[in-house]
Amino acid sequence: MPPAVSPAPFRPLSLALPYLAPHRGRLALLGVALVASTAVAVAAPQLLRRFVDRAAEGAGTGTLLWAAAAFAGLALLAEALLVLGDALAARVAWSATNALRLDLVRHCLRLDLTFTQRHPPGALVDRIDGDVGRLANLFSRMVPLLIANGLLLLGIGVALLATDWRVALGYLPLVGGGVVLLRRLTRGAVPAAAAQRAASAALLGRVAEHVDGLPDLRGAGANDVARRAFWRDAATLLAVARHAITLGVRWPAAAQGLASAGLLLALLAGAALHLGGHLSLGGAYVLIAYAGMLQMPLLHIAHQAHDLQQALGAWQRVGELLAERPSVVDGPGRLPRPAGGALGVALEEVTFRYAPDEKPALDGVTLRLAPGRRLALLGRTGSGKSTLAGLLFRFADPTSGRVLLDGHDLRGLSGDSVRRQVGLVTQEVRIFHATVRENVSLFDTWLSDRQIEAAVREVGLGDWLDALPDGLSTRLGAGGRPVSEGEAQLLSLARVLVTDPALVVLDEPTSRLSPAGRRALHTATERLLAGRTAVLVAHQLDTVRTADEVAVLADGRLVEHGPRAALLEDPDSEFSRRLSAGELGR
Ligand SMILES: Nc1ncnc2c1ncn2[C@@H]1O[C@H](COP(=O)(O)OP(=O)(O)O)[C@@H](O)[C@H]1O
Ligand SMILES: [Mg+2]
Repeated sequence: MPPAVSPAPFRPLSLALPYLAPHRGRLALLGVALVASTAVAVAAPQLLRRFVDRAAEGAGTGTLLWAAAAFAGLALLAEALLVLGDALAARVAWSATNALRLDLVRHCLRLDLTFTQRHPPGALVDRIDGDVGRLANLFSRMVPLLIANGLLLLGIGVALLATDWRVALGYLPLVGGGVVLLRRLTRGAVPAAAAQRAASAALLGRVAEHVDGLPDLRGAGANDVARRAFWRDAATLLAVARHAITLGVRWPAAAQGLASAGLLLALLAGAALHLGGHLSLGGAYVLIAYAGMLQMPLLHIAHQAHDLQQALGAWQRVGELLAERPSVVDGPGRLPRPAGGALGVALEEVTFRYAPDEKPALDGVTLRLAPGRRLALLGRTGSGKSTLAGLLFRFADPTSGRVLLDGHDLRGLSGDSVRRQVGLVTQEVRIFHATVRENVSLFDTWLSDRQIEAAVREVGLGDWLDALPDGLSTRLGAGGRPVSEGEAQLLSLARVLVTDPALVVLDEPTSRLSPAGRRALHTATERLLAGRTAVLVAHQLDTVRTADEVAVLADGRLVEHGPRAALLEDPDSEFSRRLSAGELGR
């Protein structure tokens, strides 16, 4: 069992630095572009100020044209810098997060099986794709936008200070108060919008369910119940939506109001200062121009702050995932190839718990199997058979006790060398959307077509292979050639056969095959097991009949183990009792 992962302190920067470091140069350029585009945006009204003042002084058209051209040039420059900044930010964000995505996938593949059981595939996809996508958005859009808009507010402040200190004094509380007020208004708005989406999804889900189940609902006379449930969902949606819409219009309206107030103040101050002789006409114009520039940054900052929180949440989840440690650690040793091609197996006092507070799935199991022997493992559902099979393949390490292969503790061996010699056929067969070749070799490119084809024929799929349009290159699974359950099971045997293992662990499928399918599977299994040590989690009498030894598990304990023939002769043995009670399928 993995040691409980103590939540590592969340350090966003130390998590991001390794990914951002390779882009140092681009980030520096991005910083320059942001500062420069802000400077240009703030400088533009100053040009207009000269234009207005010159015009008021009665300057000639030539001078005015020059000023106008300079203004146009500046505006173009500002846009060009923005585009450059966007491109740089996107480039950095997507390369950095793609590297992160790759690391996450690698990391998850290294974690042991208990991890994938704790995190269902959907949740993992959301982490690796959804959360990382949110991070890309954070770096490519939110952070640059926040910095650009913050710089713009700062730049306007500085420009106002240079224009007239009294105006600058009024600017500070207006912008500071505005940001605080807008933050407060947006805080409730986004969760309310999320609640509206959830309520709407619930309503749609109910409609779909009711339409699907219409015959049943009618048959049961449950129309009124359905109508009331629908009514309740609709009423919820109405209330939630009304709330969301109210909150949703409040903050943009407030930002607009603030900007208008700023404009009004600028008009009043500009007029007063100009009439009092403290400010030229151009100076008064500049005040108004800056007031007009306020609305966008206020809106952006208020809005992005929430997205930023969400992105930080995504970042934290990614950090937690990266902090997960595999409980199974590769040892330094290599499992030598046994001389006779078959491995000896031993379990010593093996206890295994899936979680520290759960009752053990295996409880003090001691069991020995000599090389080349075949063991049938019996027991009711939940008795621990699959758990034992998984321990032999080292999906996890025992909580206490040891698992030995030819006398080597699995903990001391490299996972690769174990997997090369232990073949596992699990209860559930997964056929990948890939070629027959890839489905048998499991993407191991070292295996030759000859080896793959031999394994496919060996398990009795020769005719099937010959009938395929593209032979080993035929694509299987969704969108390709459909695979029947029986074929899938034979393919899963071919997968193991092609690796030529010295121990086969077979968790027999409980699914029902046709008699012909069962016979084919039986023959293929015999071929796979010949000359090898085997541990069979057996559900079928046919399978048990081929075993040299029988072991019976009950509630995680080994209640019986002995040669099959001896147990069969003893009417008091657990094995005999279960056989006569008809607990095995035939
Ligand atoms: N991934 C898991 N997490 C927690 N408990 C598990 C898990 N897999 C199996 N168990 C529990 O361990 C016990 C043994 O299960 P298992 O080895 O699958 O039994 P069998 O294969 O004999 O049906 C059962 O009580 C089962 O509920
Ligand atoms: Mg099982």
